[in-house]
Amino acid sequence: MIPAPLALLAELTHRCPLRCPYCSNPVALTGPGAELDTATWARVFEEAAALGCLQVHLSGGEPMARRDIAALVAAASGAGLYTNLITAGVLLDAAKLAALAAAGLDHVQLSVQDAEAGSADRIGGCAGGHARKLAAARLVTAAGLPLTLNAVVHRQNLDRLPALIELALALGAQRLEVAHVQYYGWALANRAALLPSRAQLEAATATVESARAALKGRLVIDYVVPDYHAKRPKPCMGGWGRRFLAVSPAGLVLPCHAAESLPGFGFPDVRRTSLRAAWERSEAFNRFRGTGWMAPPCRGCARAEIDWGGCRCQAFALAGDAAAADPACALSPHHALLGAAVAEAAGAAEGFTYREPGRLPLPKAPAAPFS
Ligand code: SF4
Ligand code: FES
Repeated sequence: MIPAPLALLAELTHRCPLRCPYCSNPVALTGPGAELDTATWARVFEEAAALGCLQVHLSGGEPMARRDIAALVAAASGAGLYTNLITAGVLLDAAKLAALAAAGLDHVQLSVQDAEAGSADRIGGCAGGHARKLAAARLVTAAGLPLTLNAVVHRQNLDRLPALIELALALGAQRLEVAHVQYYGWALANRAALLPSRAQLEAATATVESARAALKGRLVIDYVVPDYHAKRPKPCMGGWGRRFLAVSPAGLVLPCHAAESLPGFGFPDVRRTSLRAAWERSEAFNRFRGTGWMAPPCRGCARAEIDWGGCRCQAFALAGDAAAADPACALSPHHALLGAAVAEAAGAAEGFTYREPGRLPLPKAPAAPFS
């Protein structure tokens, strides 16, 4: 019996005005001409709800780059899905937010690159972006929509974690996600500039723990720890094909947002296959489902149904084998690669390789900047 997925990640586009060096989009970005149209996305949302999904994350790239974003929110909401807009915020204005709220938007997750504007704009590769994000956050809370602030953290912003927590409080966020960079795709290319030291990680973990206690009832803090200092991997996606599916801008149905990096897969295309057929019957979803595919050290391991062998994309990126144990596991023969990468990163240059294709121009700056 294959359980129903809980959530759909709808990657509406790879277009984005920002150029984050840890972007979770694939290195080979999809152009706008290949994106699914409104009607196909509406069918995907109906099929996701029928399959048992409870929520849809409307993501990208930057989902506000889609001119039909309000129609897409209305279609997802009409299908009965809880709608979460994952946005960089720089394309949001009052009129667009009002249209999204009227279409049934339930929640906004807004990313920030740092607590300090100069650093945030450098990391995101977008001059003036941070000020626009603060203005967007103010619009979201003024509209009465729940706001989650998402901060991807790494060596170049981790020391300002206390200020990021203060920023979340000042903006009226109900939740703060502190997510250490996951190193595949663009982030793997920038790993030496991003990996934190163990001392930074320990200070950040202590900051999160004390803030959680002090802010109980005011701010929920989610904390995604970095694999490179771990002894055991995370259950990536809650296990392959167990809780989660993604649809790429061009319509590929994926078990995770990074799965296109894996060779030897024929991922189902939602233009030719139903979401149910992709989820329940496709070879791509069944290949790493459960524990039957595992080899030692995962086979027979007491944690096999806890972490599900970790991340398939990280196993391929570091071990060259998507069916290997995640090298974040100390039992993996490749585990030493992670310690070596941390040692190599200490003192490495801090310049980035920014993502480039798919870049959008920013609209004219708002007349009254947020203060
Ligand atoms: Fe997880 Fe495999 Fe390591 Fe066991 S051996 S802890 S299942 S990654
Ligand atoms: Fe693909 Fe972890 S990101 S399985």
